[in-house]
Amino acid sequence: MSTERTILVTGGAGFIGANFIRHRLATVPGERIVILDALTYAGNRANLDGCDAARIEFIHGDIRDTALVEMLLRDHRIATIVHFAAESHVDRSITGPDAFLDANVIGTHSLLKAARSVWLAGSGLPHRFQHVSTDEVYGSLGPTDPPFAESHPYQPNSPYSASKAASDHLVRAYHHTFHLDVTTTNCSNNYGPYQFPEKLIPLMLVNCLHGKPLPIYGDGMNVRDWLHVDDHCRGVSLALDKGRVGEVYNIGGENERPNIEIVQKITAAIDAAFASDTTLAVRFPNSPASQGKPCWSLVTYVKDRPGHDRRYAIDPRKAQSELGYRPHETFESGLAKTVAWYLANESWWRAVMDGSYRNWIETNYGAR
Ligand code: NAD
Ligand code: DAU
Repeated sequence: MSTERTILVTGGAGFIGANFIRHRLATVPGERIVILDALTYAGNRANLDGCDAARIEFIHGDIRDTALVEMLLRDHRIATIVHFAAESHVDRSITGPDAFLDANVIGTHSLLKAARSVWLAGSGLPHRFQHVSTDEVYGSLGPTDPPFAESHPYQPNSPYSASKAASDHLVRAYHHTFHLDVTTTNCSNNYGPYQFPEKLIPLMLVNCLHGKPLPIYGDGMNVRDWLHVDDHCRGVSLALDKGRVGEVYNIGGENERPNIEIVQKITAAIDAAFASDTTLAVRFPNSPASQGKPCWSLVTYVKDRPGHDRRYAIDPRKAQSELGYRPHETFESGLAKTVAWYLANESWWRAVMDGSYRNWIETNYGAR
């Protein structure tokens, strides 16, 4: 498909947003992308390094700035918003819920207000608001419960998932009340390049390399449906391009696993990488693998996350039948690529973790 249109991507300097921009640049010739991102600790301008500068424009700003969003929609003649911007880490929502209500609820409402005022004024323009949400809004499944279908009742259990649920409801309400053309996707746990090392997979990878404990919450038997970020980005694109207005599509990886199995596979992958590449022992001397010892020795069971959801799983049938969506990566293929990416991009994760990237932001954009 070729297009001359310009789309607005919010949160495009974050993990999934940056991968989505790369996906669109590679698959939709001619499309231009305006990126709106506040560059919180999770947003990283370097996540967009190497993207075709002629086709992207980066705006450092907040989705809660409704006037700014209206101006961007008008000035760039934008009729498509893909909304990723959010506070996204469950643990942070437990220690500090306010930021989650600000970004996820007030922020989403600000975007909806801007879209309504620009797109629905007068006779209205063809448009689309694609909202990116999470399977966590559906709550927690028992071991034999069927996976989450789009009709599953909302039962959010953390401040993060409650704030995402509120944003989903606002998107739905703007469709029903004001006839804004919306689609919503609710996906499972993503992993892949550019994920901030506070989420399970990159945290475990980096801790194996540093020789730090691998903290397993509770009994390690909580189950997630792991989705490679490339598959998620393809799913969001399909919903944007083929999804029916007003509909919700659940996107998963068809890949349910308990956390302890994920950690076992990561430690085995790191052990194997050190065994086949002797330079890794020089680069990461604190890793047990540098001494030929298993990284599994770093596993440490810790106190459980408060309100920890036991199991998430996605029923993929609607996205399959209506969008033709299926994940391409198996967990084995996706994890192998992810381990290779983190080993090859040490400077990226060191910079985002040690705060030097924050200094770069302040030098380049001024302190926020
Ligand atoms: P992330 O935390 O890596 O990135 C979020 C981005 O949003 C950052 O670049 C940040 O700077 C930006 N941002 C935050 N508040 C903002 C504001 N007020 N204005 C402008 N920009 C702001 O998140 P992610 O993992 O890439 O998740 C993206 C979206 O996907 C989120 O909406 C999240 O709820 C959803 N989601 C994520 C996952 C996952 O596994 N990571 C799974 C399901 C759904
Ligand atoms: O399901 C989709 C959601 O997946 C997204 O909406 C969220 O934005 C995203 O952060 C993710 O939420 P989780 O809480 O499932 O992801 P996290 O990586 O934080 O944790 C995955 C599992 O691993 C969870 O059961 C908690 C556990 N865990 C996590 C960390 C960080 C540990 O056992 N130890 C850890 O150190």
